[in-house]
Amino acid sequence: MQITFKLNKKNYSLDLQGHETLLEVIRNLLGLTGTKEACGEGECGACTVFANGKTVLSCLTLACDCDGYDILTIEGLSDGQTLHPIQEAFLEKGAVQCGFCMSGMILAAKNILDQNPLPNLEEIKKGLDGNLCRCAGYPKIFDAIEEAGKKIIKAK
Ligand code: FES
Ligand code: FES
Repeated sequence: MQITFKLNKKNYSLDLQGHETLLEVIRNLLGLTGTKEACGEGECGACTVFANGKTVLSCLTLACDCDGYDILTIEGLSDGQTLHPIQEAFLEKGAVQCGFCMSGMILAAKNILDQNPLPNLEEIKKGLDGNLCRCAGYPKIFDAIEEAGKKIIKAK
């Protein structure tokens, strides 16, 4: 099946099998390995990407269903060598341990902050529902998201 989509502002036209997931296409075919596969069954959020402005679990999303979509992965978040404020805040707050959950966490954080740059703790927790950190670094992740929101407001 021939599909076209935009990924991190670049257009792709691909010939895919109907069973291939968006995660498989992003990682294995296009070589963007920032998006992680952990559970592979929709439980952990490690594979989170944006599709048409909404977060989706790429391990559960068929690539063929993304024809015409605009997709953003962690590789598309920074502006060249300049980190996105969320990435900066995660580094500054020491929220990254093994890093395996991070691309999903950071994109889930973007989803929260796109809607409200000053979320309270409960809103942050709710927005991260579905993104698991096996290193259990949640307090620093929550701090980082709060800090990122302040950075985003300051940059406006
Ligand atoms: S790898 Fe997709 S939700 Fe865990
Ligand atoms: S930092 Fe290790 S899984 Fe979250």
